[in-house]
Amino acid sequence: MTVAAHPVADGLVLRPFEDVDAPALVEAYRDETLRRYTRTPVDDVGQAAHWLGLQYEGWAAGTRYSFAVLDDGELVGNVVLKRGTPGGETAEVGYWTAGPARGRGVAPRAVEALTTWAFAAFAEDGLCRIDLLHEGDNHASCRVAEKSGYAFAEVVPAFPPYPLDGHRHSRKRLDGSE
Ligand SMILES: CC(C)(COP(=O)(O)OP(=O)(O)OC[C@H]1O[C@@H](n2cnc3c(N)ncnc32)[C@H](O)[C@@H]1OP(=O)(O)O)[C@@H](O)C(=O)NCCC(=O)NCCS
Repeated sequence: MTVAAHPVADGLVLRPFEDVDAPALVEAYRDETLRRYTRTPVDDVGQAAHWLGLQYEGWAAGTRYSFAVLDDGELVGNVVLKRGTPGGETAEVGYWTAGPARGRGVAPRAVEALTTWAFAAFAEDGLCRIDLLHEGDNHASCRVAEKSGYAFAEVVPAFPPYPLDGHRHSRKRLDGSE
């Protein structure tokens, strides 16, 4: 399936990751909070190349649509739609914002743009609901969910590697176009 690859966000540009993003990825992953809540560390340009390769493979396979979030040309975040089952009714959104760019609503704007894009791009493909999962102590992420229109759905019991109960929030496609 071919999908448009440039969602718009208020004041931000979203585009698929490129090799040129490697140094900024390494810099972003120096942040302890980001490392605490993400699973794939990026410590050097070699690991950045591996990370970028996973994103390219995900796009090609239709399982993972990740976008670099740019503010005035600078990488300030990552937002991703994960479709474990291409063609399935549900998907999951994930995100991070680089440390220096936090507190400016980058993640809510990026999640909003990704959500609008995803429901339009995959409407005919059966996508009806997007879930947003976060660990129970990640209050900043809970706020992103609330600000992006992802309603609290349920508590998710802790399971390895997640030591704490978490939250599932979700947003449903409202009609044919969301
Ligand atoms: C969660 C995260 C994506 C929020 O991104 P953001 O672009 O800063 O989002 P917002 O600007 O809307 O801020 C969200 C909340 O973060 C907190 N916050 C505000 N300024 C902050 C700052 N300078 N530094 C850290 N957190 C801040 C506030 O609680 C804010 O909620 P509020 O608007 O009610 O005050 C970001 O903190 C992050 O990347 N964390 C590490 C990775 C992560 O947790 N990803 C999500 C996994 S589920």
